[in-house]
Amino acid sequence: MKDTSAFNFTKLSKEGKFINVLTNEDVRMISFPGQVQLLQFLVRLIKAKNILEVGTFTGFGALGMAEVMAAGGKVTGIEIEPVFCEFVNKRAREHDLNVDVKEGKAIEILKSLAEEGQKFDFIYIDCLKDEYLEYYKIIMDNKMLSPNGLIACDNVIWSGRSITRSDTDGSALDDFAQFVVEDKRVVSVRL
Ligand SMILES: C[S@@+](CC[C@H](N)C(=O)[O-])C[C@H]1O[C@@H](n2cnc3c(N)ncnc32)[C@H](O)[C@@H]1O
Repeated sequence: MKDTSAFNFTKLSKEGKFINVLTNEDVRMISFPGQVQLLQFLVRLIKAKNILEVGTFTGFGALGMAEVMAAGGKVTGIEIEPVFCEFVNKRAREHDLNVDVKEGKAIEILKSLAEEGQKFDFIYIDCLKDEYLEYYKIIMDNKMLSPNGLIACDNVIWSGRSITRSDTDGSALDDFAQFVVEDKRVVSVRL
């Protein structure tokens, strides 16, 4: 996946075509139900309170995690498409879930959260594949992960292409995975 803003979801939404967008093949970007169940399991397991999601789309992951986070918790989302930010923030308000999706480029928002000294117990990375390493470095170098916190990253296998390094995103994901494996600050597993 490259920068999905190329699809211009916000413009399509203004033209009343949002539903059409979500019924075409781009819908594949939504985390699948088993994945959200796994996220919920991990959030419950570590009793996560402060949660960050990099790449929120229509909020399946963000809202799912908010449902099971520890009392008084909050999910902060990062999403480049204004229409998705608005959609998810509205759904969260309707369901009384503490979710705040911030609009903008992931790297810029991560840097501003780091400057504010924000820390998270659980972080779900599901955004631009060739930026995973940069997201990870911003998070770890600025100590944004709480002690005993957990980072889950989608697509690290990338249908095998990160193992064979057979496309640009596959190679970027493999570089990311290699960096994490060698990073003494964390214990990691690639599933
Ligand atoms: C795979 S989807 C996220 C799916 C979501 N985590 C879920 O649970 O359904 C990736 C999202 O990242 C957003 N995105 C793409 N480039 C971005 C960037 N540079 N900064 C922030 N968000 C970006 C896309 O608009 C898209 O909504």
